Amino acid sequence: MNTVRAIYPGSFDPVTNGHLDLIARGSRIFDHLIVAILNNSEKQTPLFPVEERVEMITAATREFGNVSVGTFDGLLVEFARQQQAQALLRGIRAISDYEYEFQMALMNRRLAPQLETVFMMPAEKYSYVSSRLIREVFRLGGSVEGLVPPLVVERMRARNGFPGDS
Ligand code: PNS
Repeated sequence: MNTVRAIYPGSFDPVTNGHLDLIARGSRIFDHLIVAILNNSEKQTPLFPVEERVEMITAATREFGNVSVGTFDGLLVEFARQQQAQALLRGIRAISDYEYEFQMALMNRRLAPQLETVFMMPAEKYSYVSSRLIREVFRLGGSVEGLVPPLVVERMRARNGFPGDS
């Protein structure tokens, strides 16, 4: 029987409840889902180092028996090939996401024609949640509770000196 391995890539800085909603949905339709954190982000100062992002996502996805967490550098399609994945999972929250996602999906298809991009929608209640807005709201003193896992809130509070929103 064919098993389908999928990659859910992103920066996850930090992981949000919207990401987790998508992971839950992906874990139900794929045999194995690998959450892949981009290691060489162009962002100069990430909020969390990649190791901490791995820790937080690992803790938040422990309940899923078929989800693992990894990091990658360079081309996503190359990581997918190494992982023997057949699909990429991406979330679309609103039409505004579509253009960027469409371009990435077609570029990835050109680079790896056998690798299929699958789009899923997170729950409506997370349709406005993004890592960028979470960082901004937190930096300006607003509450992000209920929008990110409790561990992320704790780690954000524990950080000394909040790096910029770059
Ligand atoms: O969290 P993001 O910014 O939505 O994630 C974007 C990500 C990591 C999926 C994308 O930037 C990516 O795949 N980067 C790896 C480099 C690559 O393969 N670029 C070509 C993609 S078309």
